[in-house]
Amino acid sequence: MRAPSGWHWPRSLFVRLAVIFCVGLALAQLMSFWITMTERDEATVNVMTGYVEREVASSVALLDRLSPAERERWLPRLSRRSYTFILGPGEPGRPVDEALSQRFARSITDGIGRTYTVATNAIPDSSEHFQAHLKLTDGTPLTIDFHPMSSVPLSRWLPIVLVVQLAVMIGCCWLVVRLATRPLAQLARAADTLGPDLKGTRLPETGPSEVTLAARAFNAMQDRIAAYTAERVQILAAISHDLQTPITRMRLRVDVMDDNEQSAKLRQDLLEMENLVKEGVTYARTLHGANEPACRIDLDALLDSLVYDYLDAGKDVAWTERVAVAVVARPRALRRVIGNLVDNALKFGGSATLGVTLAADGGAIICVGDRGPGIPEASLEAVFEPFYRLETSRNRSSGGTGLGLAICRQLALSMDATLVLRNRSGGGLEAVLTLKGAEPKRERAAREHYASP
Ligand SMILES: Nc1ncnc2c1ncn2[C@@H]1O[C@H](COP(=O)(O)OP(=O)(O)OP(=O)(O)O)[C@@H](O)[C@H]1O
Ligand SMILES: [Mg+2]
Repeated sequence: MRAPSGWHWPRSLFVRLAVIFCVGLALAQLMSFWITMTERDEATVNVMTGYVEREVASSVALLDRLSPAERERWLPRLSRRSYTFILGPGEPGRPVDEALSQRFARSITDGIGRTYTVATNAIPDSSEHFQAHLKLTDGTPLTIDFHPMSSVPLSRWLPIVLVVQLAVMIGCCWLVVRLATRPLAQLARAADTLGPDLKGTRLPETGPSEVTLAARAFNAMQDRIAAYTAERVQILAAISHDLQTPITRMRLRVDVMDDNEQSAKLRQDLLEMENLVKEGVTYARTLHGANEPACRIDLDALLDSLVYDYLDAGKDVAWTERVAVAVVARPRALRRVIGNLVDNALKFGGSATLGVTLAADGGAIICVGDRGPGIPEASLEAVFEPFYRLETSRNRSSGGTGLGLAICRQLALSMDATLVLRNRSGGGLEAVLTLKGAEPKRERAAREHYASP
């Protein structure tokens, strides 16, 4: 959602709901406060005009009966907060035009207008100020100076009550929004931890009925996915395993055949089939989830021993750069991933280079490079699919099952690592594996604490 001025809604649902609730309730509160105040003013003015009308009538009657000498003394006693009496003609001015003054002037005229001739006019010094002029029975001019008030002053504790009300409202909003969004965050976290090993967090099936229902559905879905995967893996493993026996039988038969060109080709095909079956079983195992526990490893030592193994076998593998860094990973899985990548580099490029650099988050970036033909940009992701091989490599010299990179991706996922391929500028391919750093225990505990809402 986007506001016309280009203002963006906050991305978090928690903030959005909190803003909507708080602004909505504050507006509703403001409106009800305004209605209450308007009603209160209206009622006050009604009461006051009636009261002033009676008071002024009796005061004027009293002043009329007093002797001229006594009138002066009585004036202060007859004055009220909104009007005073002046013995004199008062000030001239324009007709009364302010709404409140008009109401008061009308009520005064109604009250004493029957006995005296009353003239009213506004005093131009402030908005609500007017005077009523009349002559007492003995001809003495009398002026009533009015400052009509629309309301009684507010109590001093009212702002405090309003602030407390607002605080209670914000507190309730926060509680409601948290109650509504927490299960969503938990669900997202549980779905996120549902890795390739299918051992995700189970959601507690407690709380409000909607949440319980969603948690139950999520847990059931998790179980179903695990069951389907297990079934798929079992079928793959069973077929691969059962194929091994007839293949072995066929190899024995080929061995007793006459040693001609056809039997050599058959032997080669059977070798490839055997390889395919073996890789199939391995892939099934990696899908099933690596049971190997993750631990803190010295990456430099692990890769060093791997490079030595290749050098011992007479392969062209060299370091480009290296740093000593500890990472959290499954050692055998990591060895297998790097091994597969180096095998590909050797197979398609003839030689391999290995480089380790530090990642920004303290992890490690491992680059396996070669100067082979590389991979067309459009196929850089597709080669991670099981059994996907580029047409050009479909020859016997570089033959393989096409499962190597699929296994690498699965194992990388199970280690919470990322694996991508990219073509190098001077030609050749580079595989980049980014591993998470070994986080000190205290930092991890703090992060997990703050991550939970
Ligand atoms: N370093 C590379 N240079 C060029 N192409 C590559 C490279 N690595 C992989 N590929 C391409 O990606 C495809 C898939 O690689 P993957 O490792 O999955 O299978 P494979 O090496 O053919 O067989 P396997 O590894 O199962 O023996 C390869 O067939 C090849 O076409
Ligand atoms: Mg390979």
